[in-house]
Amino acid sequence: MKHLATIAWMAWGLLATTADAAPVATASSPDGLTKIAIDFDPDGRINYSISRKDQPLIAPSRLGLLLTDGYALVRDFELVGQQTAEGDDRWEQPWGERHYVRDHYRELLTNFRQQSTGRLLSVRFRLFDQGVGFRYEVPSQAGLATLHIADEVTEFDIARPGTAWWQPGGESNRYEYLYNKTPIDGVATAHTPMTMRLDDGTHLAVHEAALVDYASMWLKREQGQKFRAMLSPSSQGPKVSRALPFASPWRTIRIADNAAGLVENDLELNLNEPNKLGDVSWVKPFKYIGIWWEMFLGKSTWASGPQHGATTANARHYIDFAARHGFDHLLIEGWNKGWDGQWWGFGKHVSLTEAYPDFDLKAVIDYGRQKGVQLIGHHETGGNVAHYESQLDAAMALYGKLGVSAIKTGYVADAGGLYAPGDQPGAVRMEWHDGQFMSRHHILVLEAAARYHIAINTHEPIKDTGLRRTYPNWVSREGARGMEYNASTYWQNPPSHEPTLVFTRMLAGPMDYTPGILSLQGLHGDPLPSTLARQLALYVALYSPIQMAADVPEQLAKYPRELDFIRQVPVDWEDSKLIDGAVGEYAVLARKDRHSADWYIGGITDDHKRNVALTFDFLDPAKTYRATIYRDGDDADFKTDTRHHIVIETRRVKRGDQMMIRMAPGGGMALRLHPSR
Ligand code: NOJ
Repeated sequence: MKHLATIAWMAWGLLATTADAAPVATASSPDGLTKIAIDFDPDGRINYSISRKDQPLIAPSRLGLLLTDGYALVRDFELVGQQTAEGDDRWEQPWGERHYVRDHYRELLTNFRQQSTGRLLSVRFRLFDQGVGFRYEVPSQAGLATLHIADEVTEFDIARPGTAWWQPGGESNRYEYLYNKTPIDGVATAHTPMTMRLDDGTHLAVHEAALVDYASMWLKREQGQKFRAMLSPSSQGPKVSRALPFASPWRTIRIADNAAGLVENDLELNLNEPNKLGDVSWVKPFKYIGIWWEMFLGKSTWASGPQHGATTANARHYIDFAARHGFDHLLIEGWNKGWDGQWWGFGKHVSLTEAYPDFDLKAVIDYGRQKGVQLIGHHETGGNVAHYESQLDAAMALYGKLGVSAIKTGYVADAGGLYAPGDQPGAVRMEWHDGQFMSRHHILVLEAAARYHIAINTHEPIKDTGLRRTYPNWVSREGARGMEYNASTYWQNPPSHEPTLVFTRMLAGPMDYTPGILSLQGLHGDPLPSTLARQLALYVALYSPIQMAADVPEQLAKYPRELDFIRQVPVDWEDSKLIDGAVGEYAVLARKDRHSADWYIGGITDDHKRNVALTFDFLDPAKTYRATIYRDGDDADFKTDTRHHIVIETRRVKRGDQMMIRMAPGGGMALRLHPSR
């Protein structure tokens, strides 16, 4: 029997090898340099491969879906149709790293039929000069109403050796790990974006776009450099259940000749649907301070009691400071009744509409209004999403009525530890932060918030896949280790963390990193792994349309010149460029203000000092600029008391000038370039 099967397989293989000679479908990017080819293996499994400049990037890799209740959509396929299309469009972002985005692609839609079952499966490929996206489309078909997906077999076989920067997928701390740097064949299971630099300098990042009503994709290394899409789990049998017809999220591969091409890349945004919310002029970028870092310093508590941080009196004190220093928003955490007790799972006691007795919500909002300072609302769920959903509309309505226009949400819980509504009243089931249930939940929150013209900043989120294009009120999120880790030397992010984020987490979208700890001090005076100039640089290097000045007011007040920079630095950009950098080592970004002719530069380095040559090629050649430079003092070093040494100076510059700036170990630089009269 076995022998017969082997012979049959060999015969099949011979036939298929002959048939294999030519792919069944091909397409290329608008510049003609990136090509894909679609093929079948001897068992009728669909393979795709990608090359750029005739060099292989993705070796033949499988496509298909495993089901929980039927024969997998993996083998035995034939191609029953293909169509091509092209697009070249320009669309406007309501806010962002750049004002206008070009969406220029060639498309190939391939329609397959599984011969043994008659089932239909399509794969749509879109090729851009900046990378490739593809997604599954499952059309309506007789006898199949809902698809129950156990997992994907989608593979990414990286064809050439290189280095990868990645975070572990499926571990308890969600996305809050330091990035690993390993050879590509040293990756285990990774979250996306996963960034790779091939040995010839080509940069790749595998990620996804438009993660809607579906489980997130992790990348599980099968062997060598071959990865398989592994979907985030669900407490239900299938990881994803979808009524037909439906389309999966796009699986994306950014492809760039260098680091700048990886960063200045709108692949995922272009693969998301346009704005669904209509007029979103009510979504406005802003800067804020918060009753927040003082909790990390142990000065006050989120919970009620003698050290409660969220009191009416403290809120007034912060509002006065915000008004004096030009901040128009204030975050207050811990005012909701029920915060006392454990963080994990505490959410079932929290009331998002009732305050502790020492906090008068309306009085705080009224006081803020007189001073031109808006409250940022807070919805911490403690991971109890079922409880949150039960009060979602009332909680949004309360803030809506009071004129609050932004809310920070939070899902503090271990991975797999979210409470979702169960099938029976009162029952719960446990879910993951990045599973199908949460991808639906976040859209529910965005839609509820949009009804009250409220923007959302999600902490402990699902990863960003460019949905801000469709829901422009999803202004920011966490989704990586932020500044809060620097509050204690026990947890701190090493200086290489932020220059790694620029090329990994930040490819996904804005991050609420919360810079601006000008004291460079955490709990018990623990020194931060940063120089003072670097705190300013972070406002430019790590993009978010909402940026915090995170230190406590009495510390911020001690640094008036630096505070001035924070007040001036824009949060909404006309254009953004990576002008120098190497993944995980350093990054220098230049951004042009959307509302003036000013440019800003922010540079950050790891624990090595670096001299960077700025050439200002991006400036308007017809103008001369006055540069205000915030750079590390010559002896500055994040490891010693010199971390506060900063030089602030002004110079005239124009396009083509050269300026060498030294960044200290753990340091950075920030520049404001303002056209001189
Ligand atoms: C963790 C978040 O990252 C932090 O910003 C927040 O203050 C706490 N959760 C409490 O909500």
